Amino acid sequence: MSTAKLLGVGVIGAHAWAEKAHLPGYRFCNRVRRVAICDTVRERAVALAERFGFERVYTDHAEMLADADIDMVDVCTPTDTHFALTGDVLRADKHALTEKPLALTAANAFSLADTADAAGLRTKVGFTFRYSPALRQIKSWIDDGTLGEIFHVHGFQQNAQFLDVNFPLRQYGLGEVGTELIPASIVGYGSHLVDLMRWLGGDFAAVSASMRNFVPERMVRGKQGLQRVPIDDGTVAAIEFASGAQGVLQTSFIAIGNYPGVELRVYGSKGAAIGRLIVENGVAETLHAATAGQVEFRPVALPSQAFAAGTSVNTAWPELYYRNLVRHWADEILDNGAGDGTFRDGAKSQEIVDAIVQSHRERRWVSLPPGEGA
Ligand SMILES: NC(=O)c1ccc[n+]([C@@H]2O[C@H](COP(=O)([O-])OP(=O)(O)OC[C@H]3O[C@@H](n4cnc5c(N)ncnc54)[C@H](O)[C@@H]3O)[C@@H](O)[C@H]2O)c1
Repeated sequence: MSTAKLLGVGVIGAHAWAEKAHLPGYRFCNRVRRVAICDTVRERAVALAERFGFERVYTDHAEMLADADIDMVDVCTPTDTHFALTGDVLRADKHALTEKPLALTAANAFSLADTADAAGLRTKVGFTFRYSPALRQIKSWIDDGTLGEIFHVHGFQQNAQFLDVNFPLRQYGLGEVGTELIPASIVGYGSHLVDLMRWLGGDFAAVSASMRNFVPERMVRGKQGLQRVPIDDGTVAAIEFASGAQGVLQTSFIAIGNYPGVELRVYGSKGAAIGRLIVENGVAETLHAATAGQVEFRPVALPSQAFAAGTSVNTAWPELYYRNLVRHWADEILDNGAGDGTFRDGAKSQEIVDAIVQSHRERRWVSLPPGEGA
């Protein structure tokens, strides 16, 4: 540790995901000071502050942002609030960690990245699966040349979350329900998956996609009875990477299998690796690798340093990945380390998701970044 300073943390939003992932991350990180939790519902802030050892609570985020003990703010509120709250965090001169997506449009996401960069503030998006020890190992094998030239990157995020029509849907622009497909799995899951594929395979040059609704009626949070909601519960896309590599992607809300249902396969000229983030028999993830000389995939054991202290493949996945995310984040800020999963990465992921939707709607390849090529 290069400095004894602790990172003062304030969290906005004290409900489901904060409780499962973010707050255990701070509770077990010895480089942070747990200063405050803010929720408009006071009882939630009080209950979680007590449980996770935060010093004080607020119900107004503007008041919390004036707290001089806070160096960074974590925005873990509903999606449509991320942009405004994160803008306030940056204007208060605090480092920012925001849940995905950063904003409802890629343009607004880029504007947050620009504001933060201009102010010299550090940023991170809640890209949970970047902090998988298995996927970080694959990333380092790509970077150090172990896998050779990368030919194919295959990415999946699919599980059975919405196969049950009674599992309530939320936050997918339901004000606009008509006959046009509403992007849902490609936004909710795709924002993670596209980021992972770009992290591993580099920038995307073009995408060609197909989206489909398989389950037409389902329960919607806050409404009575089954509603007709034409979300994309399955999307597939072909990808041309700028490097020349090829990619294949699928997001699905209705593919039978366990959470979180993320799988990345990378095939290079020297080796191949498969990271499977699917909870099976209490094990959160596995890594398998093969080489050109030994083509049978074999399991790879991950070193304990790849995990946040006190976690293992048997830790519940939200906590396993978020405790690792928080330790990387604290190290990045306190040791001035390289950015990882920054707001700019978040904005680029949104731009790619938009291109996938456009490709489906216009039944054609769409080039990236927008405005380049056909
Ligand atoms: N990264 C991941 O893998 C992952 C997984 C699950 C959820 N999420 C994201 O995390 C975010 C939070 O999810 P959740 O399920 O906990 O949501 P939630 O709706 O259950 O809870 C959000 C909380 O924020 C509070 N809140 C809303 N506006 C506020 C404001 N202006 N000031 C203070 N508090 C405010 C609400 O009162 C509520 O307690 C969402 O954006 C969701 O998409 C990410």
